[in-house]
Amino acid sequence: MRVMVTGGAGYIGAHASLLLAERGDHVVILDDLSTGSAARVANVPLVQVDLAGDSARQVVAQTLREHKVDAVMHFAARKQVMESVRLPAWYYQQNVGALANLLLGMEDAGVKRLVFSSSAAVYGDANGAVSERDDARPVNPYGETKLVGERLIASAASAWGLGAVSLRYFNVGGAGRPDLGDSAALNLIPIVFDRLAAGDPPLIFGDDYPTPDGTCIRDYVHVMDVAEAHLAVLDSLTSSTGHLSLNIGTGTGTSVREMIRALSSAAGSDVIPVVNARRSGDPASVVAAVDDIHRLTGWSAKRSLTDIVGSAWESRHNSIALN
Ligand SMILES: NC(=O)c1ccc[n+]([C@@H]2O[C@H](COP(=O)([O-])OP(=O)(O)OC[C@H]3O[C@@H](n4cnc5c(N)ncnc54)[C@H](O)[C@@H]3O)[C@@H](O)[C@H]2O)c1
Repeated sequence: MRVMVTGGAGYIGAHASLLLAERGDHVVILDDLSTGSAARVANVPLVQVDLAGDSARQVVAQTLREHKVDAVMHFAARKQVMESVRLPAWYYQQNVGALANLLLGMEDAGVKRLVFSSSAAVYGDANGAVSERDDARPVNPYGETKLVGERLIASAASAWGLGAVSLRYFNVGGAGRPDLGDSAALNLIPIVFDRLAAGDPPLIFGDDYPTPDGTCIRDYVHVMDVAEAHLAVLDSLTSSTGHLSLNIGTGTGTSVREMIRALSSAAGSDVIPVVNARRSGDPASVVAAVDDIHRLTGWSAKRSLTDIVGSAWESRHNSIALN
């Protein structure tokens, strides 16, 4: 297959690009390198372009034609929730505007297969095991841009026969190789490692939730499992039109306290975490229902929490050694 990967120089997109290349698919990456790094995907052709910019539609169409692309994986986006609260219009421009340009370019070039990086953020304050049939009510502009993106894709599917799947990732972690880790400290894993490295105790926000150990529960999925899900979904898209949303998680929750224990053990630290008051807007438990993707593609997550934490720790050391 011949695949264009937007955001392929980023954390998750690089894992998917390398898996595609490894199995012999032709890959071309479109990325503005704003948060990505060309070094992650040194042997893959890369076109540097801002997908939200004026030339994007034309560059997309031209790249799709030149590389005779069959399908697109669209990872490129801004992903910081707090930043999206401060800069909502910019988030819509970057995430929704870029997607609109991409779809225009795909329509121009007649490319009709798309896998889109959505997010569990579309579910907002959902609690418990979340299914694709539950209400999607995002609670911040980042989540809104993902839901609007899904709707735009669904409309394009009705209008001109696009076949697309939006993948709603839960909490992605780990690395497939030490040099491919996530360089942004935006979730519990790098935040705890940063505190341990600074000699500070990890923080728990609330230990009085209705969960077994009182701390919040989330669904952590290994980035290699996420990348493999993309390939499974891409392969199953070959003859379908229309739009579908699928969760990407393990279906199993890990509490903040369990996660901090695993991270501290990887880091060889026995610092006791400090419990602070709850933060507003943190649901007690959010875990993916993953029956749909398994039924439709056969995919399910294979890697354990130990794999996630161990590979995240190794990649952190790799990035420190490089700096
Ligand atoms: N990491 C997670 O836990 C997580 C969870 C849910 C959803 N997602 C989604 O997955 C996708 C990939 O996330 P990631 O963690 O790899 O992030 P990342 O920041 O590492 O990768 C994003 C890539 O897109 C590129 N990019 C951003 N804006 C662009 C633009 N306007 N034009 C061209 N390139 C642009 C960046 O340079 C980067 O290489 C994003 O859409 C994100 O919203 C991530």
